[in-house]
Amino acid sequence: MPGSSMSSSKLQAMDLSGFIVSSFHRFTGLKLIFLLAFIFKVLPHAAAYDPLDPTGNITIKWDVMSWTPDGYVAAVTMSNFQMYRNIMSPGWTLGWEWAKKEVIWTMVGAQTTEQGDCSKFKGNTPHCCKKNPTVVDLLPGVPYNQQFSNCCKGGVVASWGQDPSSSVSAFQVSVGLAGTSNKTLKLPKNFTLLGPGPGYTCGPAKVVPSTVFLSPDRRRKTQALMTWNVTCTYSQFLVSRNPTCCVSFSSFYNNTITSCPSCACGCQNKRNCIKPNSKQAHKAGVNTPKKDNTPLLQCTHHMCPIRVHWHVKLNYKDYWRVKIAVTNFNYRLNYTMWTLVAQHPNLNNVTQVFSFDYKPLVPYQSINDTGMFYGMKFYNDLLMEAGPQGNIQSEVLLHKDQNTFTLKHGWAFPRKVYFNGDECMLPPPDTYPILPNSAYVNQRAFSTVAITVFFMVLFIE
Ligand SMILES: *[C@@H]1O[C@H](CO)[C@@H](O)[C@H](O)[C@H]1NC(C)=O
Ligand SMILES: *[C@@H]1O[C@H](CO)[C@@H](O)[C@H](O)[C@H]1NC(C)=O
Ligand SMILES: *[C@@H]1O[C@H](CO)[C@@H](O)[C@H](O)[C@H]1NC(C)=O
Ligand SMILES: *[C@@H]1O[C@H](CO)[C@@H](O)[C@H](O)[C@H]1NC(C)=O
Ligand SMILES: *[C@@H]1O[C@H](CO)[C@@H](O)[C@H](O)[C@H]1NC(C)=O
Ligand SMILES: *[C@@H]1O[C@H](CO)[C@@H](O)[C@H](O)[C@H]1NC(C)=O
Ligand SMILES: *[C@@H]1O[C@H](CO)[C@@H](O)[C@H](O)[C@H]1NC(C)=O
Repeated sequence: MPGSSMSSSKLQAMDLSGFIVSSFHRFTGLKLIFLLAFIFKVLPHAAAYDPLDPTGNITIKWDVMSWTPDGYVAAVTMSNFQMYRNIMSPGWTLGWEWAKKEVIWTMVGAQTTEQGDCSKFKGNTPHCCKKNPTVVDLLPGVPYNQQFSNCCKGGVVASWGQDPSSSVSAFQVSVGLAGTSNKTLKLPKNFTLLGPGPGYTCGPAKVVPSTVFLSPDRRRKTQALMTWNVTCTYSQFLVSRNPTCCVSFSSFYNNTITSCPSCACGCQNKRNCIKPNSKQAHKAGVNTPKKDNTPLLQCTHHMCPIRVHWHVKLNYKDYWRVKIAVTNFNYRLNYTMWTLVAQHPNLNNVTQVFSFDYKPLVPYQSINDTGMFYGMKFYNDLLMEAGPQGNIQSEVLLHKDQNTFTLKHGWAFPRKVYFNGDECMLPPPDTYPILPNSAYVNQRAFSTVAITVFFMVLFIE
């Protein structure tokens, strides 16, 4: 404060007004935090709508490429337009219901899981005769003649924000006993998408303007004979009533760790969890994934498969520094291509992100307070199963806006955190680390505390 040459009465007046302003801020700050916590607790369950990615969807496009004597050949393209929600292994499963008595003669780049009853066909047998076929991607490394562009990735699809070039999956289907013109063709109905678990709701197929394709040399345009789109959106509420991740906090200015809320992810798995470093944790087969993807969790008081820790590490004059760590507590799952989304007002001024990739998300052009972190390819884009390798970490350097920056009222902690597109449960606002009353904070004195706190968090549940 440039107050050294001021008269003492003037200083007193400023002190008083400062006190009034700061108590006003404390009041509104806390109120704001409670209000935000309230809104964010209620909103995600309200609808299949994600306020941080309002247009996020998966669109499935069918392009009829040719008519055949008894039907058509279509290229089916699934595009993941979600900024930070990917489809992990074991990949997507797509289903629909035929409008009439259609069959699938052949499929390239994918397959149906069941053939169904094709007994009325003599000679040439269709690939699938079911009324509601269920389709999955082929695995990498299938013979060349079974491949289609963007196929054969085991159903794994990256998020649009992380890698647009890997956010597409496609296959070709040859349909028989179907309409053979755009007047007689009836669109398939009741689309369902698992990605890989539940959560997606698909709308009806809608005829859209035919896709125009550009030849590789970009000198000729061709056009699909007919195109329809199906849009699927995600709702976390359809997956489970409990969150799948939680957030814990610590800071250099207070040696209390604000841990994840107890039973943040529901404690229904508490009976068959495994104590870290117990005999069971080292048994063969602990890491074998189950067909239905049921987790095998390390015992914690929160019982979440994922914990995100946000540590306010240092306070420089013009910058401040946050350390972020993500810990996997599931022995049966490696997270490939993971994403972490955080909302904090200072993310409008990120100076440097160490050892993660970072991308600002600006769903509402005027507000720049959200960003996504993801692993660097071949370095830390794999979050390993629970155990000594099951964590990843990074530091973020943020430039201060002197008008808004404060260590008070939990301002330095994120407003919202998502892991892999699912919102994580934050601690209740009244448990956030509090700035000690002696306003002057000596960061050096605290830095040893800070480091110990951070490592305690990493290695004790
Ligand atoms: C799906 O996402 C794309 C890309 O963000 C967007 O252009 C389109 O409007 C979305 N569709 C729906 C139905 O929301
Ligand atoms: C149909 O889907 C494609 C993506 O596959 C998209 O580019 C196109 O805009 C969609 N059309 C409509 C009308 O939604
Ligand atoms: C069907 O194709 C005809 C031309 O063959 C075209 O004029 C018409 O718009 C198409 N209808 C639909 C629904 O695509
Ligand atoms: C398919 O959708 C219709 C409404 O569009 C619904 O009445 C019907 O029950 C659905 N069928 C199945 C098998 O889900
Ligand atoms: C995770 O990845 C490692 C290394 O690729 C592998 O050895 C391990 O079996 C995987 N664990 C699971 C649960 O898939
Ligand atoms: C948002 O903030 C980031 C830094 O965190 C900056 O690089 C980016 O240009 C900003 N975007 C907008 C639209 O203001
Ligand atoms: C640290 O934060 C905790 C939790 O909010 C609070 O109870 C405690 O008083 C704080 N410690 C100091 C030294 O202010």
